[in-house]
Amino acid sequence: MTKETIENLMDKIISLSKRRGFIFLSSEIYGGFSSCYDFGPLGVELKKNIKEIWWDEMTKAHDNIVGLDAAILMSPKVWQASGHLTAGFADELVECKKCHHRFRKDFLEKDKCPDCSGDLTEPKKFNLMLKTKVGPVEDEAATTYLRAETCQGIYVNFKNVLQSMRLKPPFGIAQIGKAFRNEINPKDFIYRTREFEQMEMQWFCEPKSADKFFDYWLEERMNWYLKLGVKKENLRSREIKKDELAHYARRAVDIEYKFPFGWKEIEGVHNRGDWDLSNHSKNSGEDLQYFDEESGQRYFPYIIETSVGADRSLFAFLCAAFEEVKGGRTTTTESAKEIETMLRFDKKLAPVKVAVLPLVKNKPAVTEKAEEVYNLLKNDFVCQYDETGSIGRRYRRQDEIGTVFCLTIDFDSLEKNDVTVRDRDTMKQERIEINRLVSFLEEKIKT
Ligand code: GAP
Repeated sequence: MTKETIENLMDKIISLSKRRGFIFLSSEIYGGFSSCYDFGPLGVELKKNIKEIWWDEMTKAHDNIVGLDAAILMSPKVWQASGHLTAGFADELVECKKCHHRFRKDFLEKDKCPDCSGDLTEPKKFNLMLKTKVGPVEDEAATTYLRAETCQGIYVNFKNVLQSMRLKPPFGIAQIGKAFRNEINPKDFIYRTREFEQMEMQWFCEPKSADKFFDYWLEERMNWYLKLGVKKENLRSREIKKDELAHYARRAVDIEYKFPFGWKEIEGVHNRGDWDLSNHSKNSGEDLQYFDEESGQRYFPYIIETSVGADRSLFAFLCAAFEEVKGGRTTTTESAKEIETMLRFDKKLAPVKVAVLPLVKNKPAVTEKAEEVYNLLKNDFVCQYDETGSIGRRYRRQDEIGTVFCLTIDFDSLEKNDVTVRDRDTMKQERIEINRLVSFLEEKIKT
């Protein structure tokens, strides 16, 4: 793709996201707030679905993974011990001497400013932790940080969870929550933001089994995307070179998605060894080793981590679902000459499952029947009711947001007590009796 085509495609995805209520720029009426975004009515449903599917996959499909919801604010000692304030959690920042724009050095292809070709300063280390003050006294003791990764809340609760749930390795702790990083170059819409949500699972295992579990979790996580509709040719894994590893990692593989602007990381699978538990032990004075009564062994479990951004994976799912059909899919209406936009979300991901459409809006018997159908479904499925415009236009409005099924209520529905169900992808229509509708939709959408 040329640079122009890429920009054009990105503009279309960003514009659809705003126009149809998926994603808005934060504080937009004040001109926006750099690299922060709000999720609109459809975005919040989509993100909720992603999080729910991930949560169910991690905690319900595995007997030995439990959940946690730790506080965002933690003792600053946690970040000292984890290495985020000292070792590696800093990017190299360079500034253009002419236009004073700032860049992450590792993102630059040349040693010149990409905006004005000016000379750049020597790189300076820039820590990504976002500082905040806790309590009314503004002294150093009151300084802490917004968490930069959710997993530290898991490590400091390792013993609490182990004991309260009577677990033994191997076992996992899963968590979904907000994380914050003072990124130097936030860019590409919601790809790199300063506030984002992570879905992380930390797998605690006996050190010798860590390599085996690493391979297992990498495969599981790759399959998760494929099951949710990402095409095989747009997904790959990339081994991170030794000299590029994060300060805590012994091994790391990035799962990458082919965005319109190139292959980019959407998830990391890491072998963190005993970095976290041994450092928290040393710094807190609490022994976080596991004692195996059977073998008499005492050891720090190794941690295999799977870490994905809820927002970043949402962006990948959005790009994967986006499709334009030149000339439209229907040949029977005047819209045939238009470009039709569709979001072909996986059924489980789609923010709206069902649209209820009375064929006409000026016949009370038809609209009352449609309202009856809407009321029947709205507690089980996210539904929209739409009676404005031609039926063709309404179908296209729903296709544009990825609604899985459109139900039409016509004059026959009054006599036969049924509806026409139109499938988004095949556009096939079939008549289904209203008293069978809930089980029909449940089977199609939830399985
Ligand atoms: N606990 C390990 C960890 O945080 P990471 O590779 O720094 O590892 C994991 O981040 C995932 O979190 C990334 O693959 C991405 O999906 C998401 N993520 C990280 N930084 C982000 C940012 N600035 N904006 C959006 N998502 C981000």
